Amino acid sequence: MTHLGTSKKEIDTILVLDFGSQYTQLIARRIRESNVYSEILPWDIKEEKIRSINPKGIILSGGPDSVTNSYTPRIPQIVFDLEIPILGICYGMQTLAEQMGGQVISADHKEFGHSELQITKDCVLFDGLQKNLNVWMSHGDQVQDLPDDFELVASTATAPIAVMQHETKPIFALQFHPEVTHTEDGQNVLDNYLFKVCKAQKDWKMNDLITQRIEEIKNQVQDNKVLLGLSGGVDSSVTAALLHQAIGNKLVCVFVDNGLLRKGEAEEVMNTFKENMSLNVIKSDSEEVFLRHLKGVTDPEQKRKIIGRTFIDVFDSEATKIKNIHFLAQGTIYPDVIESSGSESKEARVIKSHHNVGGLPDEMEMDLVEPLRDLFKDEVRRMGVELGLSAEMLNRHPFPGPGLGVRILGEITKEKTNVLKEADYIFIQELIKADLYNKVSQAFAVYLPIKSVGVVGDERRYAEVIGLRAVETVDFMTARWAHLPYEFLEHVSNRIVNEIEEVSRVVYDISSKPPATIEWE
Ligand code: XMP
Repeated sequence: MTHLGTSKKEIDTILVLDFGSQYTQLIARRIRESNVYSEILPWDIKEEKIRSINPKGIILSGGPDSVTNSYTPRIPQIVFDLEIPILGICYGMQTLAEQMGGQVISADHKEFGHSELQITKDCVLFDGLQKNLNVWMSHGDQVQDLPDDFELVASTATAPIAVMQHETKPIFALQFHPEVTHTEDGQNVLDNYLFKVCKAQKDWKMNDLITQRIEEIKNQVQDNKVLLGLSGGVDSSVTAALLHQAIGNKLVCVFVDNGLLRKGEAEEVMNTFKENMSLNVIKSDSEEVFLRHLKGVTDPEQKRKIIGRTFIDVFDSEATKIKNIHFLAQGTIYPDVIESSGSESKEARVIKSHHNVGGLPDEMEMDLVEPLRDLFKDEVRRMGVELGLSAEMLNRHPFPGPGLGVRILGEITKEKTNVLKEADYIFIQELIKADLYNKVSQAFAVYLPIKSVGVVGDERRYAEVIGLRAVETVDFMTARWAHLPYEFLEHVSNRIVNEIEEVSRVVYDISSKPPATIEWE
């Protein structure tokens, strides 16, 4: 079970008891956003553990089970015995209702999505908020009869008992999810619980998290060496900086230069980590191996597989040269955990930077160190800032594991890679200069192996095409092509054609996702 670690300092702690919801980490995240320390523990944790953290309040998360079945998770008695504020959310509400004498039924149809909440009774959780809120629901069961000594606070069209509170004790329950951003004023509802009900202090900061994580890493790895695959992306960079603070040169980073990185990227990674931060980084110059394995391959999925497999081979052979390594660190962040939990095994561990291609060979038998496993991307960025990483590195657009390999359509060669690197560099530099880089979510150039005719000076040029792609998106699941100014595109196009002999034409991609994907392959 992931949790935020144990704090030595006596700071106010909110305990989140996890009943298995996909949103449990979001609850913890919202509490962190309000500068309060929180800890997630499984619902069946030992009583002593709950006592030992001395929580100011307990939140019962949602969960996938139905309380109408027997043998589904229940709230341990200790939660009631402590006589501290309780907030049940979704499944947390249902089991609370059931255990306190109310009745829960399986509704005729599942409710998923927006719903209008009508607040009919004063309740401290909604202090300062309107009487109607647009909330996010995701449930099959619902409370049919209030438990003894509870009163109704709010309803929706399909859930007559959508919020309830105890008449005298600080016990509240919500059928909707205040932790998701789709719920209007959700953070305010949680803040009212934290500050008005639990009277928690805002005494927790990102730096405390760094201190805790450093302590946890030290405890986990002791005097052993830790291996990390450093890609230069945000997650592996922050993991490296954090581990370096924790264990210094016992962290050994392997940076594989596969030749498919952006122009200057390999040098930047080495400069930042080896020269400036004095990390122990081994660079593996493997461009030739990758190109050899990719020779003649044109199918995109095949290319991904080969790049992934070659990465593992190279990483593995570097790793076996280092003696006595017992731990493998990975920059896994929470969205990766959610993504991979749908696969055949929840414990399927994969190499993060190439998560589409597989893992390390079993015989390496290393324990995993994943200090960012419960954090969200923006939290990782904030941690990176505190750890002294540069804003450019932390705010970089995402870059796919297979790199330029999926941005050169068809067969990959060194010549094409060089052309693409130059074109991409011009595009990105101009975006930065025009203050547009941070206004788009991802931008890059694509190499299109189509010959087209151009005229440069008095000469006819029969050469290839560069596509430019820039998108705006929040989650990368859907995306809109970025409406970059014509003058800007004209300038970039002129520079590319004038400065790169091998290119005769530049086109701008005006396809949104769906139906097009962001990458071209
Ligand atoms: P698509 O092209 O699927 O891309 O719309 C969505 C996001 O995922 C990135 N992407 C990848 N990342 N390995 C990765 O690590 C891959 O094989 C891969 N393919 C796409 C893409 O850059 C975009 O941010």
